[in-house]
Amino acid sequence: MEKIVINGGKPLYGDIWVSGMKNSAVAVIIGSLLIEDKCVIENLPDISDVAISFEILQHMGASVRRLNKTTYEIDNTRTKGGISPSELVRKMRASYYLLGAELGRFHRAYVDQPGGCYFGERPIDQHVKGFEALGGKFEVSKDTGYYKIEAPNGLKGASVFMDVVSVGATINTILAAVKAEGMTVIENPAKEPHVVDLANFLNTCGANVSGAGTDVIKIKGVNKLHGCSYAILPDMIEAGTCMAIAAATGGCIKVENVIPKHLESITAKLVEMGVEVEELDDAVIVSRSGDINKVNIKTQVYPGVPTDMNAQMCVLMCLANGGTSYLTEGVFENKFRYCEELRRMGAVIKLDGKVAAVEGRGILNPAVVKAVDLRAGAAMVVAGLAAKGRTEIEDIHHIERGYEDIVKKLRGVGADIKKIVIPEKFQYEKAN
Ligand code: EPU
Repeated sequence: MEKIVINGGKPLYGDIWVSGMKNSAVAVIIGSLLIEDKCVIENLPDISDVAISFEILQHMGASVRRLNKTTYEIDNTRTKGGISPSELVRKMRASYYLLGAELGRFHRAYVDQPGGCYFGERPIDQHVKGFEALGGKFEVSKDTGYYKIEAPNGLKGASVFMDVVSVGATINTILAAVKAEGMTVIENPAKEPHVVDLANFLNTCGANVSGAGTDVIKIKGVNKLHGCSYAILPDMIEAGTCMAIAAATGGCIKVENVIPKHLESITAKLVEMGVEVEELDDAVIVSRSGDINKVNIKTQVYPGVPTDMNAQMCVLMCLANGGTSYLTEGVFENKFRYCEELRRMGAVIKLDGKVAAVEGRGILNPAVVKAVDLRAGAAMVVAGLAAKGRTEIEDIHHIERGYEDIVKKLRGVGADIKKIVIPEKFQYEKAN
């Protein structure tokens, strides 16, 4: 067990290179099992969710070769369905892509329920709606609680109207539909860049997916997919987190390897807060010389402010110089569990359902806090870097699910941050 220790309170200067996008990487890796061939995937982030995705595929018979730090070759020629180990599947949310991918390739899937961050209810009814429209029969096994889906007569293209805009349901329906017979039309799909990335990857393998990133996605089924070489897009949430760090510490960070268009909603809110953001072709330079202004934010599906930036934005609201900011969560049921941790740092936040009223007090105090989930953990890093003194962040395995080399990258811009091992005796006392 390790924790992150930060001596915060100083402005940070320099460049941070953003890694590949977690949420497309996991979809592409698991989606690759549709391809009975070798795929080379570049720009993969070195994070635990990617490692777990590979481990799952290897258990299913895939062979995975690391070509360099960010590039892997995956050969799914001999991959078999229905045998993913529960202890891996339960470690992350993206394991639900096994349902769509296995259904698409083997016409059946039998997979434990996924894990991942806890934000209240995370139903999969829209995924099931997509699978059933294509001819799959879904049930939750009474014996094991596993998801079970079968299409003994094959899959046929269909029209699916998503009642809720869902990244997972959109990607899963695409995965199930790429090799189905005929045309599938998904209306009201998610438009997130990772949906587009997954569609582009599949198209590079010979699929026929059009309209990803728009209000209607059309998938014309193909008989066979072939191997390819594909590079994952940069991670907009890692980029947004780095932008929040520059804003919180009052330094100047060049956030490199980004697509500024993906960051527009974050940039707009930072500018409203008084932060300077300069957009270059594939980088943004973020700096702050004056105070942070209060601001109101509602997180939404793309192209709105991402829910994955909720907690980091809340930290900036705490640091605002006076006034109350209102932060409304527009995607998940419960995204505010991190507020208890920020209160340890002196934050004054009143919660009313999905709305947080955040008092701008200009400072946060150092404290011992926990990463309650991935982005909440990232927000603790933002807060710790801003707070003058020693902040300790526990449960950092959540952060490592989604941020490659976060300590090293932040040291590169001058942060006093390190990872230390929690002594075993202390781990025992905590556990009891
Ligand atoms: N929803 C339903 N029914 C469904 C599916 C979703 O009601 O069948 C609801 C959810 O409860 C939620 C909303 O729809 O209220 C949106 O959920 P979505 O399905 O879009 O989220 P997800 O697929 O479970 C992915 C990312 C999350 C990110 C969300 C929203 C992956 C592996 N996860 O989750 O990423 O927050 O989309 O953009 O892609 C993270 O990276 O920290 C993270 C949690």
